[in-house]
Amino acid sequence: MKSNRYPSLLRHANLITLTDDSDYGIIRDGALLIDQRHRIAWLGPDKNLPAGTTAEMEIDCRRHWITPGLIDCHTHLVYAGNRGDEFAQRLEGISYAEIAARGGGINSTVKATRAASFAELLDSAVNRVRTLAAEGVTRIEIKSGYGLNLDTERRMLQVARAIAERVGIKTHSTFLGAHALPPEFSNNADGYIEHICTAMLPSLAAEGLIDAVDGFCESIGFSTAQIEQVFRTAQRLNLPVKLHAEQLSNQHGASLVARYGGLSADHLEYLDAAGVQAMAQAGTVATLLPGAFYYLRETRLPPIASLREHQVPMAIATDHNPGTSPLLSLLTAMNMGCVLFQMTPLEALLGVTRHAAKALGAEHECGTLEVGKQAELACWDIDQPVDLVYALGHNPYSPIIPAQS
Ligand code: NIG
Ligand code: FE
Repeated sequence: MKSNRYPSLLRHANLITLTDDSDYGIIRDGALLIDQRHRIAWLGPDKNLPAGTTAEMEIDCRRHWITPGLIDCHTHLVYAGNRGDEFAQRLEGISYAEIAARGGGINSTVKATRAASFAELLDSAVNRVRTLAAEGVTRIEIKSGYGLNLDTERRMLQVARAIAERVGIKTHSTFLGAHALPPEFSNNADGYIEHICTAMLPSLAAEGLIDAVDGFCESIGFSTAQIEQVFRTAQRLNLPVKLHAEQLSNQHGASLVARYGGLSADHLEYLDAAGVQAMAQAGTVATLLPGAFYYLRETRLPPIASLREHQVPMAIATDHNPGTSPLLSLLTAMNMGCVLFQMTPLEALLGVTRHAAKALGAEHECGTLEVGKQAELACWDIDQPVDLVYALGHNPYSPIIPAQS
């Protein structure tokens, strides 16, 4: 530790470091020092704070708890329009697939998003991000996929980049061109995939708008063969891949994304043993999305016990989108991970920190409290770690930590 004056020092906090998977890694009455580059310079018991350490801002956390900032590693939060009517239809027993076949679903959001301006998309997305940030979220993944043409996909990705500046939060942009078949290519899915691979993906990658590439591998989405073409293009462009896999049926998408060394396979209710093994071998994260499970009133559970047994890291995300998961609370997603998926409270917290960071390929930057990592932190007025997932509708976030300038 260099002995100069630091920008901020947090004292008398209970630190939840999460430096390994087996426990919370608690340091009671701890201190944490932040350097000029907004990295963690030192952390440990307050009484061990090196003598003479000074900081421009010193905050007494009064035994509040500090975790790594929460990471929502799967969202579709840039969009226009409203699909409350579809929610009502589903309550009457009409399925998500039927609604999509009738021209609703993803394509109804595509229509509204194409018609919206950059400013309209940015304003509504910023509101959503602020709602997530009010619960301690400091990093968010945002997918395109409601444009399905070059102009609108570009606009969505530019909005995702602009959010970071407006809200002062880290964002990761994912290209999800292979989300649904746009009207211009109806009955021509292969033609659309070719358009993605030869036009959309290379152009948007060249513009520096893409951090990762995703797809919807499903009977109502794209086949594994079609998704593999997108992955090959991503690989040529040096972009990491991830996949909406095994949400409504087993298409073996998880094995495919694992074969491409993918960051994550997401949803996974219909994942089989071979898929679990492929993910374990490749180090692909299982991103679980209990919000979509809940809203679709799915009854089949993702194979949590098997993922646990094979030590596949499990992340949890909101999957915020206007169709299957209009959920804007990562704490609620964590609670659902526990109550609906029988994850432990520790697994739920790891799922929105350490493992979510890995799902974004950012595990060297964030996700735990360790020297050298970004000081992306969340402070909580709780008595014990389990309180983060215990009470639905109670927000214990306590905004006393200075944001990154
Ligand atoms: O993650 N499954 C595909 N994509 C979204 C749903 C998008 C929508 O219905 O608008 C999901 O659940
Ligand atoms: Fe999704």
